[in-house]
Amino acid sequence: MENNSRRGFMGIAFGAVAGIGAVGSLYAMKKSWDPLPSVKAAGFTTLDMTIYNENELVVEKWRGKPIFVLKKTADMVAKQDDDMKARDIVVDGSHYMVCIGLCTHLGCIPAYNADNEGFVCACHGGEFDYAGFVRKSPPGRGFDIPPFTIKGTTLVLGEAGPEFTDMKANAVTL
Ligand code: FES
Repeated sequence: MENNSRRGFMGIAFGAVAGIGAVGSLYAMKKSWDPLPSVKAAGFTTLDMTIYNENELVVEKWRGKPIFVLKKTADMVAKQDDDMKARDIVVDGSHYMVCIGLCTHLGCIPAYNADNEGFVCACHGGEFDYAGFVRKSPPGRGFDIPPFTIKGTTLVLGEAGPEFTDMKANAVTL
């Protein structure tokens, strides 16, 4: 009897300690997953546009979505038609494609091929050019451009500046 209640007490004590430990680790894990309060509250991502290399795709993140950043070479800029130029984001004289990196067909993440300056979506074979236009269906429209504003040599995603507002007005992006 005495043994039983002692075992019961030990069990409760051990359970309580283990419980506190589990809550503590869950709290620590959650803290490490959470974005910084300022970023979370504002929903902005600021990109330093001076760090990118020409014709090298970098995938950034904004509001949980992949963001394709592609700095264009002078040759890529020169051979663009007017529709492609309309999608350029120009920061400090350099031209970039900055798009949400999700295929507009069913949302896969296409891969960039620097040799043919285009994207291929492995899911159903869709292709996009380096301005984000569809080269080959099934995608029905080009990559979407996230709201952005240009501040010096940085690009702030999540804030609609005049260049983005113009793009929307001209149906360059959704
Ligand atoms: Fe990209 Fe279907 S999801 S082609």
